[in-house]
Amino acid sequence: MPDERAAALAALAVEIEACRACPLGSQRTQSVPGEGSPHAELLLVGEAPGAHEDAAGRPFVGAAGKLLDLLLNLIGLQRPQVYVLNVVKCRPPENRDPEPTEIAACSGFLERQLALLQPVIIAPLGRHALRAFAPEGETRQTPVGTTLFPLYHPAAALHNGALRPTLERDMGALSRALPAARSAWRVARGGAGEASLSEIEAAAERDQLRLFESEAQ
Ligand code: URA
Repeated sequence: MPDERAAALAALAVEIEACRACPLGSQRTQSVPGEGSPHAELLLVGEAPGAHEDAAGRPFVGAAGKLLDLLLNLIGLQRPQVYVLNVVKCRPPENRDPEPTEIAACSGFLERQLALLQPVIIAPLGRHALRAFAPEGETRQTPVGTTLFPLYHPAAALHNGALRPTLERDMGALSRALPAARSAWRVARGGAGEASLSEIEAAAERDQLRLFESEAQ
């Protein structure tokens, strides 16, 4: 069966590559739309591509990406099992923070990616990514049933090694939050209408077991 979600994400990536809605589109080498499993439960969201990502056209391929891989491995996950993308798809020159106008110009792509992916958990990496979901003074905006689980940006732990144990602990907490987030996701999306509460609880228990199994690997 063709994977419609994968096809829609690939079509969106073509649009992103052609986008010139802000000046970054003409300054970067290539866009970085994001990648991973189209059916991932966990979506990790960075801020914007850096030099390595700009050259590769892929998110988190530099030092921060290597740490991200290690953190995922801690909870039994590999990169192809999750989805990774950035709020802004083109590299800001000199790795400066993206301007609000650039974030706004890219926000339609982020919204469409979220609508296609429908993740169980969104983990914004760092405060800039978090702001895309929890703008100051506004209520959080995530897809229906999705749990927001903010994490430090891995680059922060590279600059300040003291943050690494915190990031590792937070990753473990994210893993433990997954079964309840899955249940909330199913209920919010109408799963409760089809399955009885005991069925949902049994599914959550099975998920918990699966999680322990993957943690034990
Ligand atoms: N930092 C980010 O926020 N995103 C990347 O893709 C790489 C580094």
